[in-house]
Amino acid sequence: MSDKVDSHRVATSDDVEVSTYLEIAKELHGEQLAAELDVISPAARESIAIIDFGSQYSHLIARRVRECHVYCELIPYDAPWERIASLQPRGLILSGGPASVYQRGAPLAPVRIYDSHLPILGICYGMQALTHQLGGQVAPGTKREYGQAVLHMSDEDSPLFSGLPPSLSVWMSHGDLIVEMPPGFKTLAYTENSPFAVIGNSNNAFGLQFHPEVIHTPQGKTIIHNFLYRVCGCQGTWTPGNFITDSINAIREQVKGGRVICALSGGVDSAVAATLVHKAIGDQLTCIFVNNGLLRREEAERALNTFRKNLRMNVVYANASARFLKQLKGVTDPEMKRRRVGEQFIKVFEYEAAKLGRIHFLAQGTLYPDVIESTSKETKAAARIKTHHNVGGLPSKMSLTLIEPLRYLFKDEVREVGLALGLPEDMVWRQPFPGPGLAIRIIGEATKERLEILRGADWIVMNEIKKAKLYHQLWQTFAILTDVRSVGVMGDYRTYGYLVAVRAVTSQDAMTADWARLPYDVLARISNRIVNEVPGVNRVVYDITSKPPSTIEWE
Ligand code: XMP
Repeated sequence: MSDKVDSHRVATSDDVEVSTYLEIAKELHGEQLAAELDVISPAARESIAIIDFGSQYSHLIARRVRECHVYCELIPYDAPWERIASLQPRGLILSGGPASVYQRGAPLAPVRIYDSHLPILGICYGMQALTHQLGGQVAPGTKREYGQAVLHMSDEDSPLFSGLPPSLSVWMSHGDLIVEMPPGFKTLAYTENSPFAVIGNSNNAFGLQFHPEVIHTPQGKTIIHNFLYRVCGCQGTWTPGNFITDSINAIREQVKGGRVICALSGGVDSAVAATLVHKAIGDQLTCIFVNNGLLRREEAERALNTFRKNLRMNVVYANASARFLKQLKGVTDPEMKRRRVGEQFIKVFEYEAAKLGRIHFLAQGTLYPDVIESTSKETKAAARIKTHHNVGGLPSKMSLTLIEPLRYLFKDEVREVGLALGLPEDMVWRQPFPGPGLAIRIIGEATKERLEILRGADWIVMNEIKKAKLYHQLWQTFAILTDVRSVGVMGDYRTYGYLVAVRAVTSQDAMTADWARLPYDVLARISNRIVNEVPGVNRVVYDITSKPPSTIEWE
């Protein structure tokens, strides 16, 4: 797959419709948005800085801290001290990472953190960096320790262990070992292979050789919670209610009397972003909902109903289905479909926005994973792609300033905020849906007739998955209309109909996914109903490939 195709497929936020279009728009216009607003950071209440050494688990540390109702940000290890200081953190966590401290040029924490007198929790590589920088010794282990280990506490009175039994199961994943603790440190716990599995000093600096942030350390969250509350003295101010109050104040402060537009896609991110902005400035916000004719059955009606009737927002509804279908005539290449849909979206959006007169701001549902800068090569690349996605050039002509009220939130936090804002559960828990919609779930040309067939099949898949109460457990569930036709028999007649594929996957973030082990009877009902209720389809297959090597979508 080429880089180009890849760039359309990196999706940390489920609501990537608009950003995908923006990227395409940027290619078209070659211009930039005005500088984005400096939204007041939620750290104003209390926060923790996580120094990121590039571990695959760094995001997980951040999520665990947030789950404990403490705000935190991931900061690259080589960021200047001022960046950390600006957060006014109550404590610091040093993440794991792939390096070895004794190698030349190994990443280290900014030395000023050790003079700051702030509590520090070093995790795995973070512990080794702390040990190395404070005068202890780290060396390669004889073999890599990977997997479950039993942690025995030698100091049960440590605040880190409050409420925990004297031994616990923990997850190890390290090659190097601490062979000598820094001066002033003592052992708080050990495992069979790691005599210094937990260390600490009287200045509230701690090191953990294992990973408390992963689910394989079942009581890891208690250790993190203890560090935050018992060591750093946090109060737990990071709640949806506080976030909403602070965001509303910040948006009012920034927008003042200005006007804001927001493209709604029906997805949760843009819905939550728009609702927050609407709560802050009411009718100064106008939303634009473009029906591209590639949505699922009743989708546009339901979204409009929610935003107009329940939330009483100003929504411009542009039904441009015919224009989109015209652009897709004869198009079979998936990337061409994406481009055509994107170009049309921009045209329709610009046309509708121009009718509104002078607009000053554009609100978008960019999420924290989209903006995190990290130290690992992959996440840096992903961040670049997402930045590219999210600050593209669509409204460059209008010189709008971006408002991204969700730029500090993880997906699960967006959902919590959505619920606290009173958005319907259906919308808050909606599975991701791609911007080019059903067009990339039809192999071959997306015609009006084929879209109707796919809508019928998609409706049944959703209906049966929801009836079986599986919807929330699955990342995505959908039907694909293939270009394969096969022979079947119905009654006394021979048929020659379409093959529909059903895809259901579990995933955390769409970067990897596994096919869902749906119960046979659910699959049977789906198949039975599709061939009986959707004219033109006589065969149903279930996709049993994971990502990688497949992708979630078929195109
Ligand atoms: P893949 O198929 O790459 O999909 O495994 C990963 C996630 O991205 C979504 N997706 C898209 N979303 N425009 C979008 O807005 C697109 O062109 C697009 N392609 C894939 C897909 O539904 C899944 O959630």
